[in-house]
Amino acid sequence: MSNPIDHLINEYIRTLSPKELGAIKGNNSIRLDKGELPYPPSAHVTKAIADAISTINRYPDVLGGTLRESLAHYTGVRKEQIVIGNGSDDLIELIIKIFVKPGEEVLLPVPTFFVYWHATQMMGGNPVFISRTADFGLDVQALLQKVTVNTKVLFIANPNNPTANLIPRDVILSALNHLNCIVVIDECYYEFCKETAIDLIEKYPNLIILRSLSKSFGLAGLRVGYAITNEEISDYLYRCAQLFPVNKLALAGAIAALEDKSYAYSNIVKICQERTSLAHELTTLGFSVYPSATNFLFLSTKPLGITSESLVSALRKRNIFVQDFGMKPGLDEFCLRVSVGTPEENHEFIRVLREEILAISI
Ligand SMILES: Cc1ncc(COP(=O)(O)O)c(C=O)c1O
Repeated sequence: MSNPIDHLINEYIRTLSPKELGAIKGNNSIRLDKGELPYPPSAHVTKAIADAISTINRYPDVLGGTLRESLAHYTGVRKEQIVIGNGSDDLIELIIKIFVKPGEEVLLPVPTFFVYWHATQMMGGNPVFISRTADFGLDVQALLQKVTVNTKVLFIANPNNPTANLIPRDVILSALNHLNCIVVIDECYYEFCKETAIDLIEKYPNLIILRSLSKSFGLAGLRVGYAITNEEISDYLYRCAQLFPVNKLALAGAIAALEDKSYAYSNIVKICQERTSLAHELTTLGFSVYPSATNFLFLSTKPLGITSESLVSALRKRNIFVQDFGMKPGLDEFCLRVSVGTPEENHEFIRVLREEILAISI
């Protein structure tokens, strides 16, 4: 018998798949599955959060308060151009809410970040998948062929998640020069590669840049993301945003993290060094390892003759978590993503991985 409230549920929501809770990870687990920074926040950040706790009986500052100014200073734009969200996930939803009506189209070069199509479907929009080139680059011709009168938004993660590659600036420019729809360039991993399109905002009135404090600043648990765009788009984003988009502890922690940039930069240097040695170890074990401009590596298990699913589940049993991308849109059954951990975590990961590859291959 169908549920008596079924007919009341918005048709776009009814077709969404239920969320999986994921495996429970113990304290001793090695977590290389979520693209997180393995290092804890600085003492300056933890103190700012602790100091803010005694005032959480009060609402946070409206629309992100002075965090907008801190981010404007950090990025070199006017504060009116900054929109703050509860993680950049929140801003992805906000963008679709504002620009996409039911039945309209969102262009997604795949593989890419799943939240783009999840949020599109939630608002009744149609995600339009476009194949990338063999090395996961952007195929601008293929992209333009998919443009219709209903095309409203294009999302380009740069660098891309999960494939870790950077789209060269001339390719981004070529897409911008041929498109009238909203173009979102998601620079979630900006600090690991230092490539940005911020300087193009003045020239292209349809451009929105997304950034996050989750990765390079190591604040994934606080949930702070931001958009940089022109003042008109920024105004519309704020009209739709919640009055208090970010909680008080997150505001305090984010402002403190931006005051303590050298701590974040030292972590980024460590991650980039570790990334090189981890890539080397994985190549020696027989994986295809793709170039990375992020804090994670994208691998293919194909040369080993085993599926990513079998390897990921074998590692999970050993309390090591990496992300399986086998058969995700635009990918085959051999793909996985591994965050760069601490040297100790990476060492243990490689040790266990070697054993599990041998065990599966026998
Ligand atoms: C490309 C990309 N955009 C956005 C996000 C979400 O970031 P946030 O933690 O700010 O919501 C991620 C997270 O993995 C990502 O890879």
